[in-house]
Amino acid sequence: MLQPRGPGAQSIADLWWLMFGLGVVIYTGVVTLAIVAAIRQRQTHFAPPDKDPAPGRSHALIVVGGVIMPTIVLIILIVATFQVIFPVEAHPDEQPVVIEVTGHVYWWEVRYPDHDVVTANEIYIPVGEPVTFRLFARDVIHSFWVPELHGKMDMIPGRVNTHYIQADEPGVYRGQCAEFCGLQHALMAFYVVAVPREEFDAWALQQRAPALEPETPLAQRGRDVFVAASCAYCHAIRGTDAETPGVGPDLTHFGSRMSIGAGTLPNTPGHLGGWIANAQASKPGNLMPPVQLSSEDLLALVEYLRGLQ
Ligand code: CUA
Repeated sequence: MLQPRGPGAQSIADLWWLMFGLGVVIYTGVVTLAIVAAIRQRQTHFAPPDKDPAPGRSHALIVVGGVIMPTIVLIILIVATFQVIFPVEAHPDEQPVVIEVTGHVYWWEVRYPDHDVVTANEIYIPVGEPVTFRLFARDVIHSFWVPELHGKMDMIPGRVNTHYIQADEPGVYRGQCAEFCGLQHALMAFYVVAVPREEFDAWALQQRAPALEPETPLAQRGRDVFVAASCAYCHAIRGTDAETPGVGPDLTHFGSRMSIGAGTLPNTPGHLGGWIANAQASKPGNLMPPVQLSSEDLLALVEYLRGLQ
C-alpha cells in the first residue's frame, strides 16, 4: 500500500502519510503535555488543593486544545480526504479495456467481455492505461483489493460496483480479498499482471482460443480422465466435452497460470497432483472435493492440465 505503482494508490498513500504525520505530531504533543503535567503535579503536591492559581489560563487551554485545535485538524483531514476520494473513483474518458470479476468462495472469476476471454485468479492488464473493473459476487460479500494499484472495492451479491485501476509500471501485483468471507478468506488471492499493450493483445488472443489438443498419449489419457471423472461437473475446458460448467474456475488455459487455488500454491506438477487428490488438505473448506484416481490417471491428468498453455 505504501509502495504505490498507480495513480489511485499514489493519492491514497499521500493521504495516508498526511494522516500519519498529523497523528505523530498530535500524539507527541499530548504525551509531552501529560509528562509536563505529571512532573508539575509532583512539584506542587503539598500546595493547598482548593485554589487554582490561574483559572483563566486553564479555561483558555481547554478552549484551544479541546475545541479550536481539533476543529482545525478535522477540517484539514476532511478537505484532504474529499480531494482524494472523488477523483480516485472518477470515470476516465477512455475505457478501452473492461474486465468483469466475480468473487466466489474462495476464488475469482475473470471475464473480458470484449475479448471473449474467461479465466480465473490472474488478471492481465495493459500498463499505463486506465482499466475498468465491473465487480460482482456470486455468494457472499468479498472485496477486491490490489494494494499497490488502488484502494478496496466491495463485491456485493446483486450489485455491480465499478472500479478503475491503472498500473504505471509493468509487473505482477498481488491482490487479496479484503472482506471476511469465510474459512479461506485469507487464501483468496489473485495476481494482476501489467504488461505492455502488444503483450496484452497477444495474451488475450491466446486466452480466447480453445484448449490446445493434447500432444502425448499420456496427455490424451489425461483429457479422457478429466471428462470422465468428476472434474467436468464443475470446471470447463473450452474445446472439450467439458464446455459449460462454471461452478469452479475455467481451466482452458490453466497451464499458463502462476498459481493453484487462488494464490494458495505455485502451479507445479507436484502441487497440482496433491491439489487434485485432496484440495482440502491445502485449503480446508474450499468447494473442491477430493478426487479418487489411480496414480496413472492422476499423472495423466496433471500432464494434460500442465499442457493447457
Ligand atoms: Cu472473499 Cu474474503
